[in-house]
Amino acid sequence: MSRHDFQIPVTFHHRVVFTRNAFHPENRALATLLHEGGGRRALVVLEEAVATAWPNLTTEITDYFTRIPIACPVIQIMPGGEPIKTDDRSVRDVWKSIDAAHLDRHSYVLAIGGGAFLDAIGYAAATAHRGLRLIRFPTTTLAQDDSGVGVKCSINAFNKKNWIGTFAVPFAVINDFSFLHTQNEKTRRAGLIEAVKVALVKDRTFFEWIETHLDALAALDPSTLETCVEKSALLHVHHIAEGGDPFESGSSRPLDFGHWAAHKLEALSSYQLSHARAVAIGIALDTLYSTRSGMADASVTQRVFKILSTLQLDIYHPALDCRDPSGRRCVIDGLNEFREHLGGDLTVLMLRDIGLCTEIHHLDQSLLDTCIDELHSLSQSGT
Ligand SMILES: NC(=O)c1ccc[n+]([C@@H]2O[C@H](COP(=O)([O-])OP(=O)(O)OC[C@H]3O[C@@H](n4cnc5c(N)ncnc54)[C@H](O)[C@@H]3O)[C@@H](O)[C@H]2O)c1
Ligand SMILES: [Zn+2]
Repeated sequence: MSRHDFQIPVTFHHRVVFTRNAFHPENRALATLLHEGGGRRALVVLEEAVATAWPNLTTEITDYFTRIPIACPVIQIMPGGEPIKTDDRSVRDVWKSIDAAHLDRHSYVLAIGGGAFLDAIGYAAATAHRGLRLIRFPTTTLAQDDSGVGVKCSINAFNKKNWIGTFAVPFAVINDFSFLHTQNEKTRRAGLIEAVKVALVKDRTFFEWIETHLDALAALDPSTLETCVEKSALLHVHHIAEGGDPFESGSSRPLDFGHWAAHKLEALSSYQLSHARAVAIGIALDTLYSTRSGMADASVTQRVFKILSTLQLDIYHPALDCRDPSGRRCVIDGLNEFREHLGGDLTVLMLRDIGLCTEIHHLDQSLLDTCIDELHSLSQSGT
C-alpha cells in the first residue's frame, strides 16, 4: 500500500459593498469590482418582482455597461420567491443562457433579487463550467442582512429545504440599500429576524441596540433599517470568514439558531410560510426551550418575545401542530433532518443569555411539546 496525504490551501476573497443606486452612472462600485476581476462578459439575471418595482432598471444596467469594458450583458428576467427553489427548471434556464452567451469562468453572473432567487441563480452560476463569478445584488432585508453575504446556494428537493446545493464564495456582494424600500412592509420588517438572530447568539451590544431602536425598526425608518442590515450582514460575514468553518464541515451551525424547526415548518406549510416568518417561530421555540429547560433566565424569553411582537412576527403557526399517524408532532422530525443535512452529531444551539449560547445534542420531546403548547396559548392571548 502507498498513501500520500496533501493539504490544498485555498484562499477566497469575499468582497462586500454597501451602497445606494449601484447602477447610477456615477456609482463606481460595480465598475471597480469588474475592473479588478478582468473578464469580458456578463449575464444579468433579474428577479421579475424587482424589474416590476424598478421599471427603469434594465435601461440603467444597459447604460452602465456601455461605460465599462465588459460586453453589454444579456438581461434575463425570471420570477423569484420560494417557488424558484422548488425544482431545477430555473437553474437549467440560466445554464442555457450562460451557454448561449458563451460565458467562461472569467465571466460574471449578476444576480439581482431576493434570498430565494439568489440561492437558485447562485447554484446555476456555481455549477456552470464548475463555477462562474457571481455578483449578488440582494434586494430584500433578509437577503441583505444575512443570505446574500453568505457562501451557500441551493434549491429544495424531496420536500426538504436546501437539499441540493453547494458552497461557493461569490465574487462580490453589492448591498444596494435602495432596493430595500420597494418590498412590502411586512416582508421588509420580517427580514429583520436574521439580524435579531445574529445579535441574540453573537452580540449582546447589537441586541441592545435593536431593543433601543425597536420602534424605529418596526416603523421601517430607512436609516435605522439600513444600519441594522449593515451591522447584521457584517456579523454574518465575520463569522463566515473568521469562525473557522466557512463550509460547515463540523457539527455545529452557529448562525442557524432556531432553524431546525424553521426549515421543517416551511416544508410542512408547503412553503406558504416564508423563511423569515418560520425563523421567527423557530427562534421563539428555541428561546422558550432554553428558558424552560433552565439554561436561560425567563427575562431572555421576555426580551426576545417583545422584539418579535413589535416586529409583528408570529410565535406560532398551525404547522407546529401537524402530527404523524402515531400522534407525534411532525416538526420534531426537523431535528433529524437538520442533523442529516449537516452530518455528524445532532448539534443545536441554545441560549444561556443574550449573546451567550451553548450547544446541546439532545432535546427533550415532551418539553418541546410543552413549549409548543405554550407558544400556542401565548399567541391566542395576544402576548
Ligand atoms: N444561502 C444562504 O446562506 C441563506 C441564508 C438564509 C436564507 N436563505 C434563503 O433565502 C430565502 C428567503 O429570502 P427572502 O426573505 O429574501 O425571500 P424571497 O426571496 O422569497 O423574497 C420575498 C418576496 O419579495 C419579493 N422581492 C424581492 N425583492 C424585492 C424588491 N426589492 N421589491 C419588491 N419585492 C421584492 C420576491 O419576489 C418575493 O415575493 C429562503 O429560501 C432561505 O432558505 C439562504
Ligand atoms: Zn435563515
